[in-house]
Amino acid sequence: MAKSSSVPAYVRTPQSAYLSSLSVDRALAPYDLAGSIAHAEMLGAVGLLTPAETSTIVEGLRQIAREVRDRTFAWHDDLEDVHTNVEVRLTELVGPTGGKLHTGRSRNDQVALDERLYLRAAVQQITAALLDLEEALLVRATDELATPMPGYTHLQRAQPITVGHLLLAHFWRFDRDADRLFATVRRADTSPLGAGALAGSTLPIDPARVATRLGFEGPFENSLDAVSDRDPLVELLFDLALLAVHASGLAEEVVLFATKEFGFVERSPALGSGSSLMPQKRNPDAAELVRGQTGRVVGDLVALLVTLKGLPLAYDRDLQEDKPPVWDAVSTVRSSLAALRSVVEGITFDRTRIAEAADDPEMFATDLAEHLVARGVPFREAHETVSAHFLSTGGRLDPARVGEIAGVDPAVASSLNARSALARRVTPGGPGPAVLPHQLATARSRLATRRGSLSSLDRKVGLVEELLNEVRT
Ligand code: ARG
Repeated sequence: MAKSSSVPAYVRTPQSAYLSSLSVDRALAPYDLAGSIAHAEMLGAVGLLTPAETSTIVEGLRQIAREVRDRTFAWHDDLEDVHTNVEVRLTELVGPTGGKLHTGRSRNDQVALDERLYLRAAVQQITAALLDLEEALLVRATDELATPMPGYTHLQRAQPITVGHLLLAHFWRFDRDADRLFATVRRADTSPLGAGALAGSTLPIDPARVATRLGFEGPFENSLDAVSDRDPLVELLFDLALLAVHASGLAEEVVLFATKEFGFVERSPALGSGSSLMPQKRNPDAAELVRGQTGRVVGDLVALLVTLKGLPLAYDRDLQEDKPPVWDAVSTVRSSLAALRSVVEGITFDRTRIAEAADDPEMFATDLAEHLVARGVPFREAHETVSAHFLSTGGRLDPARVGEIAGVDPAVASSLNARSALARRVTPGGPGPAVLPHQLATARSRLATRRGSLSSLDRKVGLVEELLNEVRT
């Protein structure tokens, strides 16, 4: 990066290198430019710029947008941030009229606006990747809807479920994540531009016009809040942290099921790479990295919360520290969602091995107790009877011997297998064949609804490109 020959006085200080945020906030350039175009148009509409000045400035900003896109824009690291780089370049391109762009505006309301426009695009990219992962889970769940497997509590075999039921459980977690992300955008649907440094302006600016032009529900209610509110970024980081926690739970099951001890999932290149030393190894690296990166994403949330804690209103320079954790969490989660999707798509289940495990008789102990309940035995008594039998047989449940239990119909032995046990499970939302297709259908229609929300968001995100490219007639 080069030095600029025209460094404005307001960024001249011996600490300029320390104060600079350019390496981070240059990613805001498209949003900064679109926001500036909307601002310039508003200045024109209220008569603070002449029509000729307005189009000179807007065309200059579009020229800069092309330079940024083509990577020919000359970033100057002595110009502190993206905002000053754009303004100095504008003045280079269009002369002193460029100096009128910042009328009625501060970098404080400007950066708050840029971040809200960035937030929409970030949520769009994350949810697009998330919905694709959810789709992959639904495809695999459809194939494995009726494949019995052991269900676990405390990581001990508990009761039979199906692989599809387990995959759908992960789907619903991610569905809530998608819902949270869309809600975060909705709560950030207020434009801060016009709040100025903290107290608006003496000039007759029109924040509502800027808000409408940029697709916001409306302008801010309070100028102090507008320049300092980072709730949207905190919410985004929380959404991403919880999403990462959910992703790491799925990743952990892949790691666990791919061990030789479980053997439910084949160890293959679809899960990761080999060992440079041990020729036999195939490691579930991708799932491990998804699990490992979650720590950093949770740290990003904590970093921003602690930065914000105790800040007096309104703008404080501490707020500049909001961007690195957000950038990190967004790029980390985006790439981990793509990796996890490819893992889900590439998994091969060892159905024979899973079926053997699912038929482990001890998982039918509850069914046996419920068999007694159906014959009028109070549940607590039934629980103790089956438990005593279980202990007396050395901690094994032998279907051939269940007839020895007082009150048990010996014929029940033939139904102590995973398929029969699943068929008996009729609770809505459970793993039984009578109810699972309904759950799958609900999940499919939910995913379609989320895709609808994503298209509405696509349209809002598209406003930035429209502003940057619009050709005036
Ligand atoms: N780089 C700053 C940030 O990201 C922009 C706002 C600067 N405002 C100021 N008064 N120095 O927060």
